[in-house]
Amino acid sequence: MNLTGNAKLAGVMGWPVAHSLSPRLHNHWLEKHRIDGAFIPLAVTADHFPHTLRVLSQVGFRGVNVTVPHKQAALAAVDEADDRARRIGAANTVIFRPDGSLFGTNTDGTGFLAHLHASIPGLDLTSGSAAVIGAGGAARAICVALADAGMAEIRICNRTLARAESLALELGPEVLVINWADRAGLLDEVDILINTTTQGMVGQPELDLDLATLPDQAIVYDIVYNPLETPLMNKAQARGNPVVGGLGMLLHQAVPGFSAWFGVEPEVTEELAAFVSQGLVER
Ligand SMILES: NC(=O)c1ccc[n+]([C@@H]2O[C@H](COP(=O)([O-])OP(=O)(O)OC[C@H]3O[C@@H](n4cnc5c(N)ncnc54)[C@H](OP(=O)(O)O)[C@@H]3O)[C@@H](O)[C@H]2O)c1
Repeated sequence: MNLTGNAKLAGVMGWPVAHSLSPRLHNHWLEKHRIDGAFIPLAVTADHFPHTLRVLSQVGFRGVNVTVPHKQAALAAVDEADDRARRIGAANTVIFRPDGSLFGTNTDGTGFLAHLHASIPGLDLTSGSAAVIGAGGAARAICVALADAGMAEIRICNRTLARAESLALELGPEVLVINWADRAGLLDEVDILINTTTQGMVGQPELDLDLATLPDQAIVYDIVYNPLETPLMNKAQARGNPVVGGLGMLLHQAVPGFSAWFGVEPEVTEELAAFVSQGLVER
């Protein structure tokens, strides 16, 4: 990397941020497109987040991605946000505009959908039903994306019932909430099952879910990407279901930010996935 004084700058704000794969991803695209720019990991505590966000916009940065635990604070801190970010209640991408104002959006759900369509060509989401396990930040983004895509029914099941109920209330009538204890019954006749919990991540137990009633052709999407293949994916694959892992969602959610900050729409390829996933081994 050889930066000039005109280098375009962006970064990812989180606490901690050392685990983030975003610098590896964006800097790979920068090199590929020979852009005079850099994407910097920015470790910022919650106390310092709003102030630092504003300062970055005043020292030449073009914008930032925002990761745990600042996505809700990012929405509160921006001057304007799109409807999607407001409905999700969080922003993961902030664009610093030339007039000094801050614009927030959320690309987690659209990244999920883009990856799902890329993985299952011809998939029609305008009918059918989805079962979503979890009701945290990622689940909110995915449920909003599924509702916007026209999914006829979304079933949400979360360990903490109140969280699932509050998400369902915001999404509207096509959403059903299922008690955690009844989760095996969640899978009857679903077209897609999505794990949005932390279960199955490295260091966490696998998701405790019996797949016996899952239809054979139902897609199983696990948004966990470390490991690349989770116990849920292995279990689903063993019974013949099509499975999709979460790395592609991470790659696709990054596209709109890169394109806004650096002026080029980057591609998500197999080669990129292999390069970024190598970062899981090295960190
Ligand atoms: N692929 C991607 O691009 C992408 C993007 C965002 C997130 N993720 C991954 O998605 C996962 C969730 O992220 P998030 O930001 O949504 O986190 P979050 O807001 O903290 O939500 C965590 C979710 O996991 C559930 N959970 C935690 N421990 C559990 C347990 N022992 N049993 C059952 N459920 C449990 C929580 O249930 P309660 O409400 O009951 O606590 C909640 O639904 C993480 O693994 C993250 O790495 C992937």
